[in-house]
Amino acid sequence: MKMRASPAALAILMALSSTVDAFAPIKPRTSSSIISATSLHAESPPAASNFLTPELAQSCIDVASGTPLYAYSLATLAKSADDCLAFPNAYGLTVRYAMKACPNGTILKYFLSRGICIDASSGFEVRRAMDMGVPAEKISLSSQELPHDFDELVKLGVKINACSISQLERFGQAFANTSQKVGIRINPGVGSGGFSSSATGFSKTNVGGPASSFGIWHELVSDGTVPSIVEKYGLEVERIHTHIGSGSDPAIWQSVAKTSLSFCALWDSVTTLNLGGGYKVGRNAGEKTTDLKEIGAPVADAFRDFAKEHGRELKMEIEPGTYLVANAGALVTTIQDKVSTKSSSGDAGHIFLKMDAGMTDVLRPSLYGAIHPITILPASGKSSDVGTSMESVVVVGHCCESGDLMTPKPGEPEALAERTLRTAQIGDIAVMDGSGAYCAGMSTKNYNSFPEAPEVLVDLGGNVHLIRKRQSLKQIYENECDVEAGLF
Ligand SMILES: Cc1ncc(COP(=O)(O)O)c(C=O)c1O
Repeated sequence: MKMRASPAALAILMALSSTVDAFAPIKPRTSSSIISATSLHAESPPAASNFLTPELAQSCIDVASGTPLYAYSLATLAKSADDCLAFPNAYGLTVRYAMKACPNGTILKYFLSRGICIDASSGFEVRRAMDMGVPAEKISLSSQELPHDFDELVKLGVKINACSISQLERFGQAFANTSQKVGIRINPGVGSGGFSSSATGFSKTNVGGPASSFGIWHELVSDGTVPSIVEKYGLEVERIHTHIGSGSDPAIWQSVAKTSLSFCALWDSVTTLNLGGGYKVGRNAGEKTTDLKEIGAPVADAFRDFAKEHGRELKMEIEPGTYLVANAGALVTTIQDKVSTKSSSGDAGHIFLKMDAGMTDVLRPSLYGAIHPITILPASGKSSDVGTSMESVVVVGHCCESGDLMTPKPGEPEALAERTLRTAQIGDIAVMDGSGAYCAGMSTKNYNSFPEAPEVLVDLGGNVHLIRKRQSLKQIYENECDVEAGLF
């Protein structure tokens, strides 16, 4: 199959070519390649968010007893699950949900009901998934920190991918000469992804390449270090795992697959190649969502080519997080204040909208300068009250922290950017779409002692269900212990 590669793809392709010298860091995206925040919603903002009309947002608020809250659309979860389960493959596919993206038990159970397994990133995630009814053998663990009870997890059926030399050593010591099956996560030397406009070659969201600590560096595979540890302990390498956050370009995916397949050729015992996640979704107008059929077709061809050459039909695994949940989630907030720093001459300052949520709920804007669409809905909860006037504002969170910024310049978390939104008054509702992935599960939880926001699920009939209660103040500090009297 012939494909045209974008300049970014060509850079990655060059780095993925077979000579080791060609493995070079990929320059992160620059802000010029990211959609301008000020252009977002500049013309006529939609009267509803991705899936929340004013009436539906109001139902969510009623069920959650106020804002802020996270709402998830079952219809969107179902569609993204369908897409992932239809990922082209040659000899079988397992889809694993990267549960770190949004670990609520109801969401885990929904994906499980659709035949989707779990990718866990810590021993705690493994136990959490099991507590939610996910069978151990449906869970795979690729972790920066091997849990102390990893041997017990393996005995229960959890599949562990060794992500460093020391993890492989510890695994080998625990299962010496038992032919225990193991997976190896490899850093193939390149990575992509990122919101950051850093020009240093380092992006905090890169998950492959020399600036990434994830996985075993590929040269430690090719120089015999990994094979010798495997042999020393009599392990059986069953799975190869790579995850570089490969985006939406089919040419990159095919190259990633080919490079990853070359590692599978090293051990006849390998039955499965896991290509990780990293399927980008467009959260804002004009941003592209990965076409899984388009990127999957050449990947499936690469598996067929491998079978022809090596006589082995490998199963494929993918483990999306973002793709499965990002656009299924929205943060529903109230505009609790509005202040202005505009000077009388009118040539400086901003109008600020303050939400009753912030980096305590959605961290990505202040962490990476990620852009989420924001839709203003009327306080009345009625579509008939949606206004028509527009205003350029900066939206901030409720934390006593200057970095709690919801409208940064794209890729520049430290820089303010005005966004043109429907004019908002105190008490109006602001919905931040694209907040399903890495939001409820990743934030500056409890900073300023703000409680964790509740989560609700909007079912296919538009009914709203509470799937996590609002945290109480007491729950925030219940694990604190008193010191004995007289200590101070
Ligand atoms: C090993 C692994 N698999 C899957 C994922 C999910 O990635 P994404 O949410 O970009 O699909 C991650 C995210 O960092 C990861 O580290």
